[in-house]
Amino acid sequence: MKLLITGGAGFIGSNFVRYMINKYPSYQIVNLDALTYAGNLETLKDLEMNKNYKFLKGDITDRTLINKLFENEKFDYVVNFAAESHVDRSITEPNIFVATNIQGTQVLLDASKDNNIKKYLQVSTDEVYGTLGEEGYFSETTSLAPNSPYSASKAGADMLVRSYNETFGLPINITRCSNNYGPYHFPEKLIPLMVINAMKEKNLPVYGDGLNIRDWLHVEDHCQAIDLVLHKGRNGEVYNVGGNNERTNIEIVKTILNYLNKSESLIRFVTDRPGHDRRYAIDATKLREELGWEPKYTFETGIKETIKWYQDNQQWWENIISGNYQEYFEKQYGLRLEV
Ligand code: NAD
Ligand code: TYD
Repeated sequence: MKLLITGGAGFIGSNFVRYMINKYPSYQIVNLDALTYAGNLETLKDLEMNKNYKFLKGDITDRTLINKLFENEKFDYVVNFAAESHVDRSITEPNIFVATNIQGTQVLLDASKDNNIKKYLQVSTDEVYGTLGEEGYFSETTSLAPNSPYSASKAGADMLVRSYNETFGLPINITRCSNNYGPYHFPEKLIPLMVINAMKEKNLPVYGDGLNIRDWLHVEDHCQAIDLVLHKGRNGEVYNVGGNNERTNIEIVKTILNYLNKSESLIRFVTDRPGHDRRYAIDATKLREELGWEPKYTFETGIKETIKWYQDNQQWWENIISGNYQEYFEKQYGLRLEV
C-alpha cells in the first residue's frame, strides 16, 4: 500500500505519520507538506532514515507538482491534513484559507480522480457545523453552518469532496473531529499556549468570559479513528470523531495551572474572538457502532501526559518560539522560508 499524507509536518498529520509507520511497517508513506509556519520537520526527525517513509516539500495548490507526484508515485490512498488551521489567523488573513483549504483540496481531488485512487480521506472538523447552545450534539446529518472563515473554508472543501464522490465516483470519506490535544501541538492553540505561558509564568489570555465549550480528543485517538475510516469506512460517508470530553476554556486553563502548581492570578480575560462559537460537542455513535472505534484516553490521563510532554520537550517548543525550527528546514532543504 502506498499512502500520500498531506500536511504531515503539522500537529495531527505528524502524529498520524508516526502512528501509521508503527502500525503498518510494510506501507510506503509519502508526506507532502508546504512547511508553512505550522509545519515542523523537527517533529519527524526520528523517522528520516525509515526506508518506507519519504518527505517532500510541496504545496497542495500547485497543480503541476501534484499531477506529477501522483503520476510518479501511484498512490493507493490519500489522507489530506494540509490546511490553514487557526481560527484567529482566518479572521485577519482569510485569503490563504480559501487558497489552501478549498483550492488545494480541489487540486488533490482532481489528481485522485485522474489516478484511480482507492480512497481519498478528507480530514475535516466539527467547526463546519457551527455552534451549539447548551444542549444537543453534532451528528453527521446536522446542517453545515460555519461561522469563521476557517470553518467556512473547511465546509467548502467538504462539499467539493462530496461532489467528487457523487459526480465522478471517486471513493471518499470525510472525518469531522472535535478539538485535538497531545504532543507536537503548535503553541498558538489553547492548550499548548497555556501550558507554555504557565511554565514561563506569563499571562494566560482567556477570550471573553472563558465559558466557551470545546469537546477535547486526544490526537492518538483521532489517528486511530482515521485509520479505521480509511480501511473500513463506507464509501461516501462522513464520520464524526469526538471524545465526549466537554470542558469550558476556563476549566482547561485552571486544570493546567493546577497541574503545574502555578497561580490563577496569571489568568487574564481579554477581548473576545469575533464570531466565537459557544459550544462544540460531537455525537460519535456512528463511528463507534459501525467501525468499533473506542478512545483510549480519558481527558484526565491525556491532559496530564500532554502537560508532561511539554515539560519534557522544552527544546521542541523553544525552537518554535525562537524561530529556530525554520533554520532546521533550511539546513535540510537549503531554503529560506518565509514566515
Ligand atoms: P496544523 O496547522 O498543525 O498543520 C497543518 C499542516 O499543513 C502544516 O504542516 C502546514 O505546513 C501544512 N500546510 C499548510 N498549507 C499547506 C499547503 N498549501 N500545502 C501543503 N501543506 C500545507 O494543523 P492540525 O491541527 O494538524 O490540523 C490538521 C487537519 O485537521 C486540518 O485539516 C484541520 O482543519 C483538521 N482539524 C484539526 C483539529 C485540531 O484540533 N487541531 C480539529 C479538527 C480538524
Ligand atoms: P483554539 O485552540 O484556537 O481552537 P478552536 O478555535 O479551533 O476551537 O481555541 C480553543 C478555545 O480556546 C476557543 O474557544 C478559543 C479559546 N482561546 C482562548 O481563550 N485564548 C487563546 O489564547 C486561544 C488561542 C484560544
